[in-house]
Amino acid sequence: SAKDSTVVVVLGASGDLAFKKTYPALFGLYKNSLLPQNFSIVGYARSAIELADFKSRVSSRIKASDEEKKLLQEFLDKCTYVSGKYDEAESFKRLNAAVDEIQKSFTGRKHRVFYMALPPSVFIPASQGLKEWVYASDGNNRLIVEKPFGKDTESSRELANALAQHWKEDEIYRIDHYLGKEMVKNLMILRFANVFFGAVWNRQYIHNVQITFKEPIGTQGRGGYFDEFGIIRDIMQNHLLQILTIVAMEKPVTLDAEDVRNEKVKVLRAISPLTVDDVLLGQYGPSPDGKEEGYLDDKGVPKDSVTPTFAAAAFYIKNERWDGIPFILKCGKALDQQKTEVRIQFQDVPGNIYPSLKRNELVVRVQPEEAVYMKFMNKQPGLSSTAVTSELDLSYARRYKDVKISDAYESLILDVLNGDKANFVRDDELDAAWKIFTPLLHEIEGKKTIKPEIYAFGQRAPDGLSAFVEKHGFRRDAAYEWTAPKI
Ligand code: BG6
Repeated sequence: SAKDSTVVVVLGASGDLAFKKTYPALFGLYKNSLLPQNFSIVGYARSAIELADFKSRVSSRIKASDEEKKLLQEFLDKCTYVSGKYDEAESFKRLNAAVDEIQKSFTGRKHRVFYMALPPSVFIPASQGLKEWVYASDGNNRLIVEKPFGKDTESSRELANALAQHWKEDEIYRIDHYLGKEMVKNLMILRFANVFFGAVWNRQYIHNVQITFKEPIGTQGRGGYFDEFGIIRDIMQNHLLQILTIVAMEKPVTLDAEDVRNEKVKVLRAISPLTVDDVLLGQYGPSPDGKEEGYLDDKGVPKDSVTPTFAAAAFYIKNERWDGIPFILKCGKALDQQKTEVRIQFQDVPGNIYPSLKRNELVVRVQPEEAVYMKFMNKQPGLSSTAVTSELDLSYARRYKDVKISDAYESLILDVLNGDKANFVRDDELDAAWKIFTPLLHEIEGKKTIKPEIYAFGQRAPDGLSAFVEKHGFRRDAAYEWTAPKI
């Protein structure tokens, strides 16, 4: 009701994630009048920062036009800051007093959202402290958690069990921010709201699926963190695998979160664990001109590290729809460009009568330059009757000129406020995901005998990638390149 109030507590408020993503996303929602009426944000972290300093740090990371400056000031007025420890009752009691103080003037229900922008080491004590000292007795309590959710099946289960002692699954929102991206959310509509896509979405018509993530930057001093995890845990096990499950799942009975997640879990359970034969691993070296450091030059990285910064892997889903069809997931840092896309390559035309036919492809460009385009054969216009590749191109910048695509975190925080869990990872889903990767990760890390292929900073991909994707049946049409329309 209008008398209800909501407080978001951002734990780890002085950290990078909070300044870079959480606060800007909350402001984005505020700006668009999407936050509940009686709303406040309490930042919580160990550092003793003056409120004024804290606010200026928050606002320095928020882009606001001149017209938005007033809104930003109003937003900052809703922010307070409490410093305290993550494992101390006294600290949590102080936090609770601050939250109580804000909510005491409201007579409705008192909801609390706890956003854990925290390192894994303090995760469990913090979640316990919140439950014990800061939990709302009359209102919803929601806990937002971020990866890493453990490092393998066993450690992930330990974390899940520890969390489950204090929090119900129903209250936990596990973020995979890729699920908040516009084009990832579009995938279900494309598939289930279009008869012509739905009709060909199976092993009879699709030859292979490639899901690609590229970044042109290296670890940039985050090497210490990264080296413990590697690209498979950083990107593939979560972001890319989530995309795979949405591309592959059956139509859910309804759009209800449990119906959607039930279907995603079924896909994951139908994938066998990866073996070393299914993967190609790479690690970036310096750029050829020497201007960019190699991975091993990052200060936090051991000189003999074999941690992959690039990985490609082929997944096979053993079910009626997908048996035998490779889903090739590829991700890497320090490559030639930034790009995330899903590329569905269709089968060859049976009984073909035209020379040099290329396969049809449907590409969902997740970022940047969001687009859905379909590569297909068309008659060369004019007197020639050759079939040539062309495309139907739904480029968002051209088609939806005035629409601003919102940040993934805005979309996901809004979901939390609305209690919609469809775009969050369920506990059994996480467990099924880890099962696919754990044997491979243990093999790579246990023996350290699998040396990643070195590629130059800024290279398109490790040299071995073409052969790898061809082995799994992908056919590249090198003569044809889609370019985003210039607007
Ligand atoms: C994060 C990874 O989850 O995703 C980072 O930890 C990566 O290494 C980032 O850079 C990419 O996210 P986005 O939204 O920029 O594509």
